[in-house]
Amino acid sequence: MNHQLKIAPSLLACDFSNLESEVKNCEKYGADILHVDVMDGHFVPNITIGPLIVKSIKPHTSLPIDCHLMITNPDDYIDDFADAGADYISVHAEVCNHLHRTLTKIKERNCKAGIVLNPVTPLQFAYDAAEYCDFILLMSVNPGFGGQSFIPSFLEKCTKLREHLDRNGLNHVEIEVDGGVKIDNIREVVNAGANMIVSGSGLFKGDLEKNIREMRLAVI
Ligand code: DX5
Ligand code: ZN
Repeated sequence: MNHQLKIAPSLLACDFSNLESEVKNCEKYGADILHVDVMDGHFVPNITIGPLIVKSIKPHTSLPIDCHLMITNPDDYIDDFADAGADYISVHAEVCNHLHRTLTKIKERNCKAGIVLNPVTPLQFAYDAAEYCDFILLMSVNPGFGGQSFIPSFLEKCTKLREHLDRNGLNHVEIEVDGGVKIDNIREVVNAGANMIVSGSGLFKGDLEKNIREMRLAVI
């Protein structure tokens, strides 16, 4: 199955003093998903935003909201994010003691469920969890900050995961990439089998409309 390319601007890189217009611009300029980075200062060294912000942007967009939970106790917050309007929720394998239970809980709330692997977290987690996932997010940077450099080992890891999913009747599971993706490397990332493309600084730095358009053109 060839998955549709989905461009997911990471709001972490937007102008938070104009959040409403940034959100509306993402939709107007053809983004497919809004990526929201939730950081707790424990799992990652940074603190960002929570369900309150998800709730406040929800009425201003018809795009699905993708909540990437970089927090140590994701189970405690699934309901809060679902109530706030999340459409996709992903949890890190490194901090989830009961992944099957957590993924099931996310689906019970009618959200798409995903696990996230840090750059050197073994793919075995994804292999074993894939049948309970709608998508798998492979980090191409260490989570915590926007604007970091893409770690090239992502490409081999992503290729392996895509092959595994396709070989095992799990080709409906989508692969999301997050970190350091820009116009000049999106093609490699898509060729490796990712279709949900998160980009923060690669989209919000400069002209958002042009950057979204050029990302799409780069993979044709
Ligand atoms: C990193 C976040 C990313 C980040 C991506 O921890 O999960 O979503 O915002 O930003 P860029 O595209 O600038 O690397
Ligand atoms: Zn993210």
